[in-house]
Formats: sequence, C-alpha cells, structure tokens
Amino acid sequence: MAPSANATPPPSVCPQPPTLTLPTTGSQHPLFLYGTAWKSTSTTDLVSAALSAGFRGLDTANQPKHYREDLIRPALALFPRNSLFIQTKFSSPAGQDPATIPYDPTAPLQKQVRASVEHSLENLGVECLDALLLRSPLRTLEATISAWKVLEGFVAAGKIKHIGISNCSLPILAALYSSPVISVPPSIVQNRFYEDTGYDLSLLEFCREHGIVYQSFWTLTANPGIVRSEIVRKVAAGRGWTREQAMYALVLALGRGWEAGGGVCVLNGTTNAERMKADLEIVGEIDGIKESDVEEFRDLLKTAYR
Ligand SMILES: NC(=O)c1ccc[n+]([C@@H]2O[C@H](COP(=O)([O-])OP(=O)(O)OC[C@H]3O[C@@H](n4cnc5c(N)ncnc54)[C@H](OP(=O)(O)O)[C@@H]3O)[C@@H](O)[C@H]2O)c1
Repeated sequence: MAPSANATPPPSVCPQPPTLTLPTTGSQHPLFLYGTAWKSTSTTDLVSAALSAGFRGLDTANQPKHYREDLIRPALALFPRNSLFIQTKFSSPAGQDPATIPYDPTAPLQKQVRASVEHSLENLGVECLDALLLRSPLRTLEATISAWKVLEGFVAAGKIKHIGISNCSLPILAALYSSPVISVPPSIVQNRFYEDTGYDLSLLEFCREHGIVYQSFWTLTANPGIVRSEIVRKVAAGRGWTREQAMYALVLALGRGWEAGGGVCVLNGTTNAERMKADLEIVGEIDGIKESDVEEFRDLLKTAYR
C-alpha cells in the first residue's frame, strides 16, 4: 500500500560520517584509516576494536616484518564487505626481513608483485582490494612503472579498485602520473607528514590539482612541536578536544574543498579504545574549523619546526 500523505515519516537514517571521493571510480574513502602496523599477535583484537569503534578503513601491507596481514581477516567477519575500505601494499625485497619475504625474492619484479597481490587477496579473504599501494618507488622509474603495470592488470581483472604509492617524492609522483605508458593514474599517495619534506605542501598541491587522496602517517609522532603549538592549542581549547585530536583535525582540514576530488586522510593506529572513539568524533567537525585557523596552521607548517 502506498504511504498516505499524513503517514508518520520514517525515522531519520543515521548520518554517515563525511568521506573523500576518489575521482577515478567515484568511490568513497574514509578520512581516517586504521593503521595495522606493529600490532603483531594483537592485530585481530585491535582491528576488531577499531571496527567496533567506527573505523571503516584499514591500512596494512604484505610485509610480515611490520604487519600481520593474515590476522586481519578474522576481524572482518561481522562487517559487510562493501562497508569497508581495505588497503594493502606491495613491499619490495629491500623493505622486507629476508627471513619472512612472502614471495620468491629471486623472481623477476613483475612476478614478485603478482605473487604478493595474490597472497594479500588470500590473506585478507577478499575478492577485490579497495587500494593497493607500492610501499615505495622502486630503484628506477622504469622499475616502478613495470610494477605499476602489474597492478593495472589486477585493476582490469576487477581485483583492485585503486592504485597508489607510498614514500614518494613530488618529482617521482609527477613522472609516474604523466607517464604515457600508465593507463590507471595514481589515486592515493601515502607519506610521512614531517618537516624533512616541508610537510609535503607542494605535493599536496599536486594531489589537489589531480584529485589524489593524500594519506598522512607519523602525524603525531614526528611532530611534537607542532602538537604543542599555539594554533593547535587554540583549536583544541575551542572545541574541547585534546591537542592530538586538534592536530588530526587541522591536518584533515588541509584537504577540504578539493574541487577535483581526493583530499587528506590520516592513518591512525592507536591501540587505545577510548582514543579510537574520540578521534573518530572529530570527523564530522572538520568543515566547521575556521579557514583562518587552517591558514594559520599552514603558515606554521611553512616555518617548519619540531
Ligand atoms: N607506508 C609506510 O611506510 C608506513 C610507515 C609507517 C606507518 N604506516 C602506516 O601508518 C599507520 C599509523 O602509524 P603512525 O606511525 O602514524 O602512528 P600511530 O600508530 O597512529 O600512533 C602513533 C602514536 O600516537 C599515539 N596516539 C594515537 N592517537 C592518539 C591520540 N588521539 N592521542 C594521543 N596519542 C595518540 C599512539 O599511542 P596509543 O596506541 O597509546 O594511542 C602511538 O604511540 C601504521 O599503522 C601503518 O598502517 C605506513
């Protein structure tokens, strides 16, 4: 029966947290990804806690030295696959512990990449990864492109949605992006957010221009001076946040209003259940931060100190 004009309206649907848009597919990307590095045998419990707290994105890597990718799968069972953004990485032999390399390191590079991605799909128990990143550029641009072409093959086969690169400078990102042999452009860059790279402010401009998601890590650990700064204190005091929450919010706000899509995401690997919830609470408030405060924060980053 059709509802009458006087029918009581249905209860309002729970508001969904704001997300970033990946322009190559129109898919949504969470503002925080839960970082799973260094969690060892606690990985399943911590990922379960993070998902229960409300995280919907996960970052891992097929790099047993730092990540237990295989221990994420049991935590995924209670959540519909399409509600999660699952990202992993290919790490070359140079980034691996020689005793635990999860593919044959003597095989040609393209075979290593193929084996690593297939292993990740199996470890995570998924048909398709939302994102696969090269953990860093390879030794040459040619080698990086060669690895990229393998990832493009997985995209064509429907097994990876987005590809990206980590620990990448602007010249390498720009060269990769404009390479005539690339058919799937980088959607994501994951970098240390720290003084040594000038807080990637130029690279962020490139990401803005091209609708790339910039994923920040070391956001707190590399920046105790910035976390103690006056602008971070002011934003924290104004909203009743901790300085760490305010720091995350200001970094996320650097990605506001990118017309081409993309934006800034923070990798958050807290092991503390209260902080998981508290950090997620800021996500809905990023748009409310005054533009003048974001500008003051950006100016501080330009003067770069610890
Ligand atoms: N691509 C790469 O090469 C690369 C390298 C490193 C990391 N990553 C990724 O980035 C993720 C995050 O790593 P990260 O190094 O940025 O740091 P992190 O694991 O998020 O945590 C850094 C520290 O900050 C503390 N912390 C987190 N939230 C806090 C809050 N609200 N208030 C106070 N302290 C807080 C944590 O302590 P508590 O646990 O006690 O909260 C921890 O000691 C990793 O798990 C990994 O996925 C990638």
